[in-house]
Amino acid sequence: TNLITLDEGFVNTGSTRSAITFLDGEKGVLRYRGYPIEKLAANCDFIETAFLLMYGELPTAREIETFRSGIREHTMIHEDMKSFYNGFPRDAHPMAILSSVVGALSTFYQDSLDITDQRQVEISIYRLLAKLPTIAAYAYKKSIGQPFMYPKNDLGYCENFLRMMFATPTEDYEVDPDFAEALNLLFIVHADHEQNCSTSTVRMVGSSNANLFASISAGISALWGPLHGGANEACVNMLEQIAMDGGNVKKYVDMAKDKENNYRLMGFGHRVYKNFDPRATIIRSCCDKLLAKLNLDDPLFEVAQKLEEVALKDEYFIERQLYPNVDFYSGVIYRALGIPVQMFTVLFAIGRLPGWIAHWREMHANPAFRINRPRQIYTGCTEREVVPVSER
Ligand code: CMC
Repeated sequence: TNLITLDEGFVNTGSTRSAITFLDGEKGVLRYRGYPIEKLAANCDFIETAFLLMYGELPTAREIETFRSGIREHTMIHEDMKSFYNGFPRDAHPMAILSSVVGALSTFYQDSLDITDQRQVEISIYRLLAKLPTIAAYAYKKSIGQPFMYPKNDLGYCENFLRMMFATPTEDYEVDPDFAEALNLLFIVHADHEQNCSTSTVRMVGSSNANLFASISAGISALWGPLHGGANEACVNMLEQIAMDGGNVKKYVDMAKDKENNYRLMGFGHRVYKNFDPRATIIRSCCDKLLAKLNLDDPLFEVAQKLEEVALKDEYFIERQLYPNVDFYSGVIYRALGIPVQMFTVLFAIGRLPGWIAHWREMHANPAFRINRPRQIYTGCTEREVVPVSER
């Protein structure tokens, strides 16, 4: 035991070498494969970014065409998978549905489960990227009791998703290009974030040589928690509560400072970023632009700005270097797009998928790869006698 280093919550433990994402928490820098996310957001779409993360380079015109058409081939889900949705209660959380249905991909697509066969792994990758938006939109349709809308393959990735969410068999849905652009940007800024909780989970599960669908399903479960991806939903619920409470942000800031309770400002703070979260900066400016363009006056945006202003001037938040993170303003954009709050973390999952896959692939390509198996420092009883039940 003396040789074991204890690092509760892995604050300072590198679990692997990785060439995918670079983070500088002090300077607020985030790069995928060397490219700053601001540049990627301005010049590339989400599918190019996914290719970059997974394969290491931005695709050529030809490569991206092949990649896009490969994804299009797999957008439908097996018809029998629909019966899963029939079995879920109507009010089930879509994240629960997402992780279950993704887990169930291993039952329907058994021809791509062999992780030692590169061709099968590639097919699983295409299947995941193509089907996740379909699985997600079906979860939403189920929750509102509407029929599922099949994917439409002449649409782009984001357009297709929005249409599957909002079209009905009786009325098609014309996707506003500004909506698709905003969604594209959100997916890009969510696409990877080195060894965060869900990515470490995907690596951990994958390190046992579990198949890709099983590993990603585990990642989705990890993302659901409110300290991680679930913070975007929790944040909008918090903003709503503050708005209903007369917009009294000070009261909530004080509650978050009070160590007598566990209340935290959702969408604030980050394990690595100690100056600002570069993703939050991009999202906030997108939010500004989108609301102006749509001529929308979302009271929650006002509450969010007020909350940020008050918190950033407060000693407590300054001392602890707590700033708005990626989840703080993203919900306001999702609301402007008409996306219901329960779906926010599902959108995070669609965005993060390429990052999870990139890490899973990188791990298996690493010659030093071994099963992940942390140790512990045992604090329980020393050896003791078993007392028979009659004498206990
Ligand atoms: N509100 C109030 N106090 C906070 C907050 C917050 N949001 N975040 C951290 N603190 C305090 C915390 O109580 C602690 O205070 P003290 O030193 O007096 O005990 C100090 O700041 C350090 O916090 P920590 O919990 O040790 O920090 P961590 O690195 O373990 O946790 C975090 C990081 C993101 C889980 C945490 O900041 C948090 O719970 N934030 C709210 C949830 C959230 O927005 N999560 C999304 C994270 S970004 C995207 C993602 O991962 O999905």
